[in-house]
Amino acid sequence: MAGRTLAQRAMRNPVLPLIYERVWRPVGFTLASAGRSTTAEQERIDAFLALAPGARVLDVACGPGNTTRRLLRTLGPDGRITGLDAAPAMIARARADTDDPRVDYIQGDATAMPFADGAFNAVTCLGALYLVEDAEAVLDELVRVVAPGGRVVVLTSVHRGPAPLHGLADALMRPAGMRVFGADEVTAALRDRGLVHVRRELAGFLQLAAGSRPM
Ligand SMILES: C[S@@+](CC[C@H](N)C(=O)[O-])C[C@H]1O[C@@H](n2cnc3c(N)ncnc32)[C@H](O)[C@@H]1O
Repeated sequence: MAGRTLAQRAMRNPVLPLIYERVWRPVGFTLASAGRSTTAEQERIDAFLALAPGARVLDVACGPGNTTRRLLRTLGPDGRITGLDAAPAMIARARADTDDPRVDYIQGDATAMPFADGAFNAVTCLGALYLVEDAEAVLDELVRVVAPGGRVVVLTSVHRGPAPLHGLADALMRPAGMRVFGADEVTAALRDRGLVHVRRELAGFLQLAAGSRPM
C-alpha cells in the first residue's frame, strides 16, 4: 500500500488502532450501512462464510484484528486464521490483542500476498477494497489463495439510488481515496475470476459479496 491517499494515510495513523474497534468501525460502518449494527453485520458475514471448525482462514486487510479475533472464536482447536494488513500500527495492535497459537498476523500488501495458491478454505476482505488503488489486483489475490470449495467474502462500498447521484458520490469519495463500486461490479469481478454461487446483500452504501471456488 503506497499510503498516498488521504484514506490510506488515515489507516496508517498510529492513533487509529486505538480508537478503531470501539469508535471508528461501529460508527462509520453503521452510518454507511444505513443503520445496521455491527452484530447484525457479523451475523451476515458468518452466514456468507459458513466456516467449518477446522478451517484455515485468511482475513485480508485485518486492521487491528477485530474480525480475525471474532472468527477465531468460531473455529475449533484445529482451525487456523491469518490476518494480513499493510499498516504496521494495525498489525502491532492486532498482535498485542491475542496470544492464541491458532492466529498469526503478517504485515503485507493485499495486492501481492505471500501465500501459496489455494492455501485457505475461506478468505475475507472486509472494509478495505474501496481503499486500495488496485482493487482488481486484490480480487485476483483473494481468488488465487482460496482452495477449491472455499469461499471468498468481501465487504465493500456500492452505489445506490439514481444514477446521477453516483457521480456525486464519486466526486465526494475519490479525493479522499475511496472508491464506490458499481451495483454489479464486485459480483461480476468474482464471477470473471471463476467463482461460482456468487451472491450479494446490500445495506445502505455497503455490499457483502461472496463466491466459492469450484471443487
Ligand atoms: C477500515 S480497515 C478494515 C479493518 C477490518 N477488516 C474491518 O472490517 O474492520 C481497512 C484496513 O485495510 C488496510 N489496507 C488498505 N490497503 C491495503 C493493502 N493494499 N494491503 C493490505 N492492507 C490494506 C488498512 O491498513 C486498514 O487496516
